Amino acid sequence: MKQVSIDVVPSYEVKLAHGLIHQAGIHIQSLYDGNCEAKIAIISDETVSAFHAQALSDSLNQVGLKSQLFTVPAGEASKSYSQLAVLSSELIKAGYDRSSLVIALGGGVVGDLAGFLAAIFYRGIPFVQIPTTIVSQVDSSVGGKTGINTPEGKNLIGAFHHPKLVLIDPDLLQTLESREYLEGFAEVVKHAAIADEGMLDILLSLKPESKDVSVDILTNNIKIKARIVEADEKETSGQRAFLNFGHTIGHAIEASLPYGELLHGEAIAIGIKAALWLSVQKSGLAQSQADKVLSVLTHFKLDTVLPDRLNNEVSKALMLEKLAYDKKFKAGKIQFVLLEALGKPVLSDAVSIEDIKQAINHISQ
Ligand SMILES: NC(=O)c1ccc[n+]([C@@H]2O[C@H](COP(=O)([O-])OP(=O)(O)OC[C@H]3O[C@@H](n4cnc5c(N)ncnc54)[C@H](O)[C@@H]3O)[C@@H](O)[C@H]2O)c1
Ligand SMILES: [Zn+2]
Repeated sequence: MKQVSIDVVPSYEVKLAHGLIHQAGIHIQSLYDGNCEAKIAIISDETVSAFHAQALSDSLNQVGLKSQLFTVPAGEASKSYSQLAVLSSELIKAGYDRSSLVIALGGGVVGDLAGFLAAIFYRGIPFVQIPTTIVSQVDSSVGGKTGINTPEGKNLIGAFHHPKLVLIDPDLLQTLESREYLEGFAEVVKHAAIADEGMLDILLSLKPESKDVSVDILTNNIKIKARIVEADEKETSGQRAFLNFGHTIGHAIEASLPYGELLHGEAIAIGIKAALWLSVQKSGLAQSQADKVLSVLTHFKLDTVLPDRLNNEVSKALMLEKLAYDKKFKAGKIQFVLLEALGKPVLSDAVSIEDIKQAINHISQ
């Protein structure tokens, strides 16, 4: 088993191993010095729970822990006030209180929603993350950001609430749809670009169709996220902004398309190509390094060309408008994450709207 400590206050452990879900009970019991009397709510979505909730509840049972399953529909729409309200009522009616424990079993949607519920339920109860997608296993399960969406935007309502424990089992990924598995690698490539050039070669040696991501690669990613979160826990000093590499233009692409047409990672892959091009123009990134990153995106079947639907002047103008609303715009200037080299990100204000227009033209072909 691999283990990464997240050094915030209070600190917590991320444990990674194949088959770890079958040992979840032991690890959760150990949080309570072997004497857990908490009522345990497993919160999951309907898809993930059908595959994996039984294994989790069996493993809790093996150490004498009883749990109850609460599910929400699969998908982003469940990160909502209404699902939060439904879950809160269900838990209160079932007798959950401040001594209870929440386990989030699912992707980033379940982690963010269940984590936010745990943050505010009886003013805050502990929770454990058992992430089941690439995105959640390399990114969202660590860092303490929880929340829901509103009609005005994503993740606008939330809280910082760190889990007590994160259990990562790559075997859970076998049941993921291929498209969802592959899109997660946009975030992995982002981590490699900003912090670990060597990981790019390892990624190229994987066989995407066999979903063979290793514990070592997941551990590397958690370490990268952990070090950035530790340096800038509440996103105040700027370091955490490096995690937005590829996201400024990526978000604008995502927001300019009908919901769900591109998955988040698919839009970010295109955003990464734009950010690499800007880095070559503005911050001295070597073209050969940019090409290396692009080859890994291609290896994971992530297209880096703007979809046809956006490849016209009206749509490009709309994307620029979406950018202007992006929270990364500060005092009329955009704070853009660029690379000076692989592993050397910088937060730059040297990127003008004209530069961004050119970057968008670059991703049009
Ligand atoms: N808190 C953070 O720091 C942070 C960071 C990144 C992303 N996020 C959030 O994460 C969310 C996206 O997370 P996601 O990409 O994991 O999406 P998701 O949770 O919606 O999961 C994607 C789909 O895969 C299904 N699924 C999940 N695991 C499965 C498995 N093992 N087998 C079969 N099907 C499975 C789900 O039911 C869903 O339909 C977004 O809401 C985003 O805002 C949060
Ligand atoms: Zn992202």
